[in-house]
Amino acid sequence: MLSDTSAENASVGPGASVTFAHISDLHLPPPALPWRRFLNKRLLSRHYWQQHRRHQHLPAIRDRMLADITHDRQLNALLITGDLTNFGTPEEFSQAAIWLKTLPLPALLVPGNHDAMVAAPYAQTGKLWEPWSAEHYPYIRHFGNVAVIGLNSAVPTPPFMAYGHIGAKQLTRLGAILATLKAQNICRILMLHHPPQRGLDSRLKSLRDTEALGKVLQQHGTELVLHGHTHQATLSEIGNANIPLLGVGATSMKHDHPERMASWNRICITRPARFQDQTSSDSQGWQFEVTRRSAEGAVLQNICWNSEDFRASLRTTPAQWQGGKA
Ligand SMILES: [Fe+2]
Repeated sequence: MLSDTSAENASVGPGASVTFAHISDLHLPPPALPWRRFLNKRLLSRHYWQQHRRHQHLPAIRDRMLADITHDRQLNALLITGDLTNFGTPEEFSQAAIWLKTLPLPALLVPGNHDAMVAAPYAQTGKLWEPWSAEHYPYIRHFGNVAVIGLNSAVPTPPFMAYGHIGAKQLTRLGAILATLKAQNICRILMLHHPPQRGLDSRLKSLRDTEALGKVLQQHGTELVLHGHTHQATLSEIGNANIPLLGVGATSMKHDHPERMASWNRICITRPARFQDQTSSDSQGWQFEVTRRSAEGAVLQNICWNSEDFRASLRTTPAQWQGGKA
């Protein structure tokens, strides 16, 4: 079950810092698509894209953000929490795979609801993204003593809905993975598209099994959960479990509201010296520094915490970043 494997960055030694860039909801401009792709729910989405989305998601903003990310030589990987496409067509999966191959650093992704808008043959969609994800979820990738766990919450939904669902099979595997990694003193970074938190999105767009995932997380713990979907930068706590939940603005979004404009999260994780005894069973001692940066590289927010006292650190952050309504 814990067959990681590729360990993109096996050179990250125990005790070293591991740094990730977190982006989401790219909604890459679609290529020319045949009409037959829209003889379903996609027709509604196409209308919305033509009227709104294509005027909000600007490739120039995404390019500036990627330039900023590329300049950061300390990054170990780019973590993408879904919605690379607009309609989830095979053509868009292929286009996104070509884009992913151009990235200058290792990338990992989970799909979003737009990537699963209607049921589509796996060989023409998800299979194309396996180099940056996996056939089966949850998957794990190791970066030294930090593990990234990808969870799939993307399912086709009826028109006017965009909810997520994980399901019992993934949740059972996730529980076993979290328990095993905890016993190994590995820092666990979980990523999924839909936020596992009530109130961050409307009911029609939220995660159906939020409570079931919350139980798994409260039972086994995890050091950080990343999500997309809301197009809003937020930092909050899952339940009363001292588990940080971090969202991010859409990668190419033009918006007047500071928390909804395009941004990316720079996440640096360090094991403080007092916890670097690998025989210690204390898995709580991880130091996090999260910096939210604009597409142009300006520092918008910065927060540091130790996994032992995240809740106390959260109280010092602006209310808007804690999920205040835009
Ligand atoms: Fe989404």
